[in-house]
Order: sequence, then C-alpha cells, then structure tokens
Amino acid sequence: MSYQFDPTIPIEAAPTPPKSWYTDPLPFAAEKRHVFEKAWIAVGRSDQVAVPGSYFTGELVGNPYIVLRDDEGQLRAMHNVCRHHAAIVAQESGHASELVCPYHGWTYHLDGRLKRAPSMGKMTHFDAADFCLPPISVEEWGPLVLIDLDGAKGGENNPRDLAADIAPLVEPLAELGFENMKWIERRSYLINCNWKVFVDNSLDGGYHVAYAHEQLAEGLEFAGYRTTTFDRASVQICESSGKDNRLGDKVIYAWLYPNLFVNRYGRMMDTNVVLPVDVDTCQVVFDFFVDYEDVEQWNAKRTIRKSITQSHVIQKEDVEICESTQQGLRSMSFERGRYSSKLEQSVYAFHAMLWKDIQHELSQ
Ligand SMILES: [Fe+2]
Repeated sequence: MSYQFDPTIPIEAAPTPPKSWYTDPLPFAAEKRHVFEKAWIAVGRSDQVAVPGSYFTGELVGNPYIVLRDDEGQLRAMHNVCRHHAAIVAQESGHASELVCPYHGWTYHLDGRLKRAPSMGKMTHFDAADFCLPPISVEEWGPLVLIDLDGAKGGENNPRDLAADIAPLVEPLAELGFENMKWIERRSYLINCNWKVFVDNSLDGGYHVAYAHEQLAEGLEFAGYRTTTFDRASVQICESSGKDNRLGDKVIYAWLYPNLFVNRYGRMMDTNVVLPVDVDTCQVVFDFFVDYEDVEQWNAKRTIRKSITQSHVIQKEDVEICESTQQGLRSMSFERGRYSSKLEQSVYAFHAMLWKDIQHELSQ
C-alpha cells in the first residue's frame, strides 16, 4: 500500500495524496497521534465556562477531557479519566464544586487534585499527589476555547505556541470583528466521510461553490476570490456580489490546521470543527455567533433565523458532496487526483502540512 506524497512537486504537476489517506486505518491512526494530539484544537467556547465551577466535557481522538473554570476564575483542562480504574469522571456539562467519579466516588478538586478516595482501607506506596487528574494545556482565543493534548501546564511538555499558529488569522478576523461575537446556536452533523474530505472541500478556493451551492454562488463575486496560505493556516476572502444581504461586503473563510474553520460574513460568524470519528466518518460541529447587541430585537432575530436556515441548506449540499467523494475514493478505479493550481492552493498546503506530521509513520 502506498502512502507517499511528495510536497516538493509544484502544484501544477502534483498528484493529490493516494486514496489510502482517506480509506486506510494506518494513516488514520498516525493522524490521531501526530496531528490531533499535537495541535491546538478548538473544543468549545468561553461562554460555556464563564463562571467559576462551570464545565464542559468531550472526547478528542479517544481522549476524554474536561474544561472548567476553577474557584479562582482560572480556566483549566484535564484528562477526564479517574486515576482509580479509569472511569469517566465528569459527564456532559454543568456546574460543580468538586468532581466525583460515579464509579467508586473518588473525588477531585476543581484544580484536579485528589480530594477523597473512599473505602480504600490501609494503603502503602500511595501518594495522593500522584493521583491528580492530569492537566492539559488550554487557551482562549476570542470566543473559543482550545486545548493542546501534547502540552501540560506545569508538566514536562510545552504546548505549541498558539499565538504563532493563529497569527495570520488574527488581523483578517479582527477587521470584521471576532473577539466579541456572541454565541447563539450549535448544530452538529455526522458525515460518512473521512475528516479530510470535509476539510479539502472547504479549502478548495470556492471551486465547488458554483456547482454545488447554487444559492450561495449568486451572493459571491468569484473574480475577487483570494487565497493565502501560511505555515498552519489559510485565509480565503471573497467579495460579495451585493445580491445577498446576509453576506455583507465580503466573506472570510479562515482555517487553522488541522480542523478549525472560522467563517465570517455580514452580522454572522460560524465556526466549524471537524472531528475524526473513524476512518470514513467525521463529526462537524457548527457554532453560530452574531455581532448584534440585542439578539431578541426583531430585525436581528429575522436575520439570524434566515442565515442559519441558509447555512443548513449549504451544509446539506456539502454533506452530499463529501459522502459521494468518500464513496468514489473506495472505488478500484481511483488512486490519486490532481489540483487546480488556480484555486486549490490551500488544499495542497493542507496535504503538505499533514505529510510533514505523519510521514515518519508512513514512509516505507
Ligand atoms: Fe461547500
């Protein structure tokens, strides 16, 4: 099985990665370990952990985590796995003053320290300090909360430099407003495709929009579509045609490697987080934000409803395209494709970033 990709071939001549990247368990396992466990991944929002004691939980490539605001107001993330027999400690989301494992009642402080381990009897060789919930690096960026599983504050590993990773995205997003956007709604989609099929589709420089999104295409001025790629990010900007008020003057599609899109248009913003489930399934979580002060105001309500409905239509069109692509990738007739050198620079850059992270596992 070939997994090879050669990022030194210029885009005009380059083949896309082999289908095995999208259909095989080996690249999928390598991505979990060397991409998703070693990057800043958006897992939630600041408003979910606004007050002391508030928390949310989730799982990132097989690693259950909890993000919470402790009593001193500090944001923390930890592995949500009991040190006793590995049960999941906190469930879903909510508010707590301590974390109690539902299995045998082991109880942790909000900073992860073990507080109580009931009915353990006489114990030797036991130091409670060795049985804390292990910390995970966590940061806020505007309304988003990101974690880096590879880093642990106070631990041996340093996280990646988040400021450096997001640097190219900060200014374009700030221009239209990012830091103070208000969250209004979440929608989640389970899609029968490899996570990279969805990312490729969103990075194609608007190539598919004219064919797959008839209504959206009318609102965009493709002649002015600009794509810029960076070390671990890309920015796609498209002027509006003026035919769709929802989009404002221009639309920004910002992407942070590997799996976060921040789409900013008109009075709205949506973030899409693409999470691998298995080799041919991913989950895409959409969070919608607005820049209205008063979201209950009639005009705001109408714009928001209309925009989310339209976004759902676009998403259904993308799901159809992505699932059809995954089906085609399984065909014996397909091995590798090609890039549009005019439009698909970000797709090519994404594949090169990925290859850099996983090649040591796949070069054989
Ligand atoms: Fe699309």
